[in-house]
Amino acid sequence: MYRLAHVTDPHFRGYAGLSLGALAGKRAIGFLNLAFNRRRHHKLELLAALGEDLRAQAVDHLALTGDLSNISLAGEWRAALQWIERHAGAPDAVTVIPGNHDAYVAEVVRAGAFEKIFGSYQSRDLEIDGVADAPGTASGDPRSAYPFVRLRGPLALIGVNSCVATGDLGAWGEVGAAQLQRLESVLARVEVARCVRVVLVHHPPVLHKGGEHRNLRDRAALTAVLARAGADLVLHGHDHRDESAVLDGPWGRGIAVIGAGSASYAGAPERRSRYNIYEIGDGAITLVTRAHVEAKDRFEEVRRTKIA
Ligand SMILES: [Fe+2]
Repeated sequence: MYRLAHVTDPHFRGYAGLSLGALAGKRAIGFLNLAFNRRRHHKLELLAALGEDLRAQAVDHLALTGDLSNISLAGEWRAALQWIERHAGAPDAVTVIPGNHDAYVAEVVRAGAFEKIFGSYQSRDLEIDGVADAPGTASGDPRSAYPFVRLRGPLALIGVNSCVATGDLGAWGEVGAAQLQRLESVLARVEVARCVRVVLVHHPPVLHKGGEHRNLRDRAALTAVLARAGADLVLHGHDHRDESAVLDGPWGRGIAVIGAGSASYAGAPERRSRYNIYEIGDGAITLVTRAHVEAKDRFEEVRRTKIA
């Protein structure tokens, strides 16, 4: 039995190195939203408690699907890194992809700042179309180094980057034609196809919530790639609530698409701070959700369901 944990949208806070000059444009608006709104809804205490619970579960691997920050500050990412090091273990046992909040500012995205900090959590086991470097070490556009593949136990973890500096206040995403092409070719590779293929992507590849200013623009193209090439599981975040869907895969096989709620959300029980664990073995996958139960101030298993 291999156990894969999925944590998403923690939205860490940390202001080290923040200068007034950095707070321009979209970041200034994001900072105000953080100061007046997000602070109340996302609690760092819950992240600490979730981390303790995760550590006690002693899973084999953790996948973090983005929105580690709020406004793409180095201080926020360093807080995330400390949490990972404390609760989730070595880079070999943790895979990290960015969310839209980690791509808040175009210069930061172009500089590959996220990939430089989390590079060791994105190391790749396969060269894809001539790209052998992890996103953080690739020269040129960091996006050209996605997707990356990590082979762990029975799994092939495929990290996709759906996040672009939108240039507007939108939270929409785009995988892009070039990355989709690489994704399709890697899903078909024999070293990958013989594994349980787990695709990690921040934005849901299916429509759950309206408002195209916040959705994945090329989700139809992504689902078409998955329909042709196949995958066993697609894990995403972004919507801050548990979600599930089934996509058409090749030969009539469905592909489970599971979204997890935010790891730091302090609101109602059904969305409150949570994460998922996938128990994978003997051809079956069981989804276990552990969530913070406010009345008891601890994490408990709140769902167990067989998904494959
Ligand atoms: Fe997001």
